[in-house]
Amino acid sequence: MENTSPIAMGSDHAGFALKEFIKNHLIAANFKIEDCGAFSENLVDYPDFGIEVAEKVASGMFERGILICGTGLGMSMVANRFKNVRAALCNDLFLAMMSRRHNDANILVMGGRVIGTELAREIVTVWLKTPFEEGRHRKRIEKFDAIASRNII
Ligand code: RB5
Repeated sequence: MENTSPIAMGSDHAGFALKEFIKNHLIAANFKIEDCGAFSENLVDYPDFGIEVAEKVASGMFERGILICGTGLGMSMVANRFKNVRAALCNDLFLAMMSRRHNDANILVMGGRVIGTELAREIVTVWLKTPFEEGRHRKRIEKFDAIASRNII
């Protein structure tokens, strides 16, 4: 895994335990992590944390983010409202690999109530090390980035 650029992480209460597990794993592997919360399993609203991480990636402040809620669905919906964000819900290894190869995903989303810690750790490893294939996939990303910018108020 490359560990040069810091990663913004966020979760809600349902993703908290998995966020902590992945955060500690990445810190042990020498990654720099910006933990945007949640900081406990007390009930919170996932958009508050999804917005914070997505803003950091959309602005270019962070190249990569990881978001975790119960299913991963809510966090995906929130993060993909932001221009330049390509958030991919990957609760399996194939999606983690393809989200990087074909979609240049810059936010990995997982469901803390869907997958276990060991699978999540493998997903993160694959997602961080798999490069974007560029070529025809770049053109496709540019097509939907253009739509996003038309819709910004
Ligand atoms: C919280 O109960 C749950 O709705 C949230 O973590 C997430 O799964 C939403 O999509």
